[in-house]
Amino acid sequence: MRIQPAKSIRGEIRVPPDKSITHRMIFFAAMAKDRCEIENPLIADDTLRTLDLVKSVGANVGYDEGKLSIRMERISEPSSPIFCGNSGTTARLGLGFLSRLPLFSVLYGDASLSSRPMDRVIEPLSLLGPIFDGRNKASNLPVSVRGGKIKHANYRSKIASAQVKSAFIIAATAGDGISTYAEPVKSRDHTERFLNVFGIVSKKDGIIEIKPSVIPSFKARVVGDFSSAAFFITLGVCHRNAILEIKDVGLNETRTGFLDVLKRMGASIETRNIKNDFEPYGDLHVESSNLEGTEVSAEEIPSVIDEIPLIALLGAFAKGKTVVRGASELRKKESDRIKAIVSVLSEMGARVQEFEDGFSVEGCNLENAKIDPYGDHRIAMMAVIAGVCGNGVEITDPKVVSISYPSFFEDLKKVKR
Ligand code: S3P
Repeated sequence: MRIQPAKSIRGEIRVPPDKSITHRMIFFAAMAKDRCEIENPLIADDTLRTLDLVKSVGANVGYDEGKLSIRMERISEPSSPIFCGNSGTTARLGLGFLSRLPLFSVLYGDASLSSRPMDRVIEPLSLLGPIFDGRNKASNLPVSVRGGKIKHANYRSKIASAQVKSAFIIAATAGDGISTYAEPVKSRDHTERFLNVFGIVSKKDGIIEIKPSVIPSFKARVVGDFSSAAFFITLGVCHRNAILEIKDVGLNETRTGFLDVLKRMGASIETRNIKNDFEPYGDLHVESSNLEGTEVSAEEIPSVIDEIPLIALLGAFAKGKTVVRGASELRKKESDRIKAIVSVLSEMGARVQEFEDGFSVEGCNLENAKIDPYGDHRIAMMAVIAGVCGNGVEITDPKVVSISYPSFFEDLKKVKR
C-alpha cells in the first residue's frame, strides 16, 4: 500500500473501543453469575480470539447493534486446542481464566505469539494449584492447563505486567481464601478498577488483595482506546498543518503516560469534557507543534508501553535527541519492537541508535521508503503516520492493523486533506 503525505489534517474522529478493556469484559462476563451486556466492544482480530476462547468452554455469545451479550451456559471441555492467534492478552488472561475451570484445555498461537514468554504467567498461576505443561517447560505455547480447584497465594512479581497481574487476579477470584499480588511499578489497572466496584479486589499499601467471590451480572460500556488514539495524537502534533479533535478516549492514568511525554516535548494538546463510566474518558484537541527531544525513564515505561514506537516517531520530528531506556520488555511484544523501531526509522533516513533496553533518535527529515512492519500492527500504523507527516511511505502487509484497529485506514482518510 502506498501512502501519500497529507497537505493538511483536519476534522474529528472517534477511535475504536479499548482492546485491553474489551478482553477483560469478555472474561469477566464469562465468569459472572448471569448474562452480562458489553456495549461498544472492540471487534478486531485479537478480541475475536478471546470470544472464541470463552465460547469453546461453553459461553453463549450474542452480538447485536454494537452490543455483546455473554452468559456461561454449561462449562464444557473443548475437544480441540484453542487458537489465540497473535493475541498475548487472550493467551495470558486465558490461562488465568482456564485455571478456574475443572477441565483440560490446550492453547496455541501464531508464530509471533508462540515465541513470546508464557512462564511469566505459569509461575504465579501454578502457586494457585492448576497443572500446566507445554513447550520449553511451558515457557512457550502450546501450553495445556488442567484447572479446577484454586487455592490462595501471595505473589510478588518482578515484572510490571498487567497481563501477568490480571491472569493471577482472574484465577485467584475462584480461590479458597484471600490472595495478594504486588508489582514493582504500577501497570495498567483496568482489572482491579472493575473488580473493586464489586468489592472483590482492593489495594492496601501498594499490595493488591483478592477476595474470592462471584462477579454479579453487569452491564458496561467500553471507552475509546487511548493506544489507538495515540496514532492520531502523533499525526496531529507532527504534521505541519493539523488541527484534530479525538472523541471519547479512555484516559485512565495508568495508560496515559504518553500525554506526559508529549507535554514535556512541548506538544499542543488539550484534554476536554472528562467523564467517568467505570473508567475516565474525554476528548482530546491536538494541533501542529514544535517538539523538543526528551528522555523517558524506566519508571515511566509501563504507562507508555504500547506507545513507544510513537515516542520514537515524535523523536524524529523533534529538535535534539530523544532517548528511551529501561524498555527491554519491548523485545517481547508482537515483534521485537526495539529492533523494528530502529530498522523502520533508519530506512526512512533517521539517525537511530539501538540499545539492549531502548534506543535514541535524532530529529531529521523523514524520507519515503518501503517498510515491512514485522507482522506488528503498531509498527505498521507508526510507519503510516510517519509517511503521512513526512514524505510518504510504501508498506507491505497493511492488513495487520486489523489486530487492534480494523478501521485505521478509513479513519485516516476522514482527516487527511
Ligand atoms: C496489556 C498489557 C500490556 C500491553 C498489551 C496489553 C493488557 O502488556 O503491552 O498490549 O491488556 O493487559 P504487559 O502489561 O504484559 O506489558
